[in-house]
Amino acid sequence: MTRSILVIGAGELGLQLIKAITSHPSKPIVSVLLRDSSKTDLSKYPVKVIRGDITASIDGISNLLKGYDIVISATGFSGGSGSQINLAKAALKAKIPHYFPWQFGVNYDLIGRGSSQPLFDEQLDVRDLLRSQNKTKWTIISTGLFTSFLFDKSFHVVDFESKRKDKIAIIKALGNWNNKLTITSAEEIGYLTSRIVFDEEENPPEGVVFIASDTITFEDVAKQVEKVGWSVEKQITTVDQLQDRLNKNSDDQGAKYGMIWARNVGVSWSLDDTWNGKNGVETESLDQWVNKNLARP
Ligand SMILES: NC(=O)c1ccc[n+]([C@@H]2O[C@H](COP(=O)([O-])OP(=O)(O)OC[C@H]3O[C@@H](n4cnc5c(N)ncnc54)[C@H](OP(=O)(O)O)[C@@H]3O)[C@@H](O)[C@H]2O)c1
Repeated sequence: MTRSILVIGAGELGLQLIKAITSHPSKPIVSVLLRDSSKTDLSKYPVKVIRGDITASIDGISNLLKGYDIVISATGFSGGSGSQINLAKAALKAKIPHYFPWQFGVNYDLIGRGSSQPLFDEQLDVRDLLRSQNKTKWTIISTGLFTSFLFDKSFHVVDFESKRKDKIAIIKALGNWNNKLTITSAEEIGYLTSRIVFDEEENPPEGVVFIASDTITFEDVAKQVEKVGWSVEKQITTVDQLQDRLNKNSDDQGAKYGMIWARNVGVSWSLDDTWNGKNGVETESLDQWVNKNLARP
């Protein structure tokens, strides 16, 4: 059966989803929702671009979603507070047969409400809403941290800039050097999501599905950065330090995110428990990702 899919957004994750889905042998009909203001050029992909905004009214969004078999949201948190719950309400209103909300992240159920990141409470609101009904099938793909984000300066774990002239990278473990974290590259999130959607066409998994490229410790991060030629200066960012920062500035985004990993709950899972692990799909280790992507000093 040829199915019609709508991907919302074509950023770091959306583009990888589009690549994986459009190259799948079952040849689905793929549409992508972009804002009027979007500069993204999708002309090299076999997709139809439709225009819209996820901050519109629930009715407005619902009209945009109607008629697709599957809707996958790849908007990140960029729509701002309220946009994820509105999108979920619109998906239910449009009676989408299968909805994949933007929850490509940590184990929000385990982290629970009232964490340092208020946006996570909205992710739980979306889960509550989806669980409260049985008309729209839903799948959440839990990915852990995007691998690229681990090395992004806004995550405040790897600092290549402060001592670059001395070829020193400062690595700041969140909480503890042995704290574990699951990471998945955007490319593998795209690929594994397309496999989950299409391999199990008759019965795609419902509920929360865990995937992972790798599960590592902060110590592993330091070792890998060292391996590609950097000298490493090791520091620890403790829960107390992060709490101190939040007390001084409750809007400190770095501290809000850092606290989640420093507390070390809901941010890692074993590869054996993942969809890819159970289905024998090989994924890229941190070592392989670093060799391919990380800048040398
Ligand atoms: N688990 C994690 O580690 C995690 C979680 C969250 C974020 N991140 C990081 O944060 C970044 C986000 O990546 P991403 O792919 O999730 O998002 P992204 O690259 O920021 O892309 C977001 C997409 O959504 C679209 N969009 C934004 N606001 C919209 C709106 N109001 N209506 C419709 N479309 C809208 C954007 O379109 P335009 O072209 O119009 O801008 C863009 O195509 C990455 O660097 C990622 O590593 C990581």
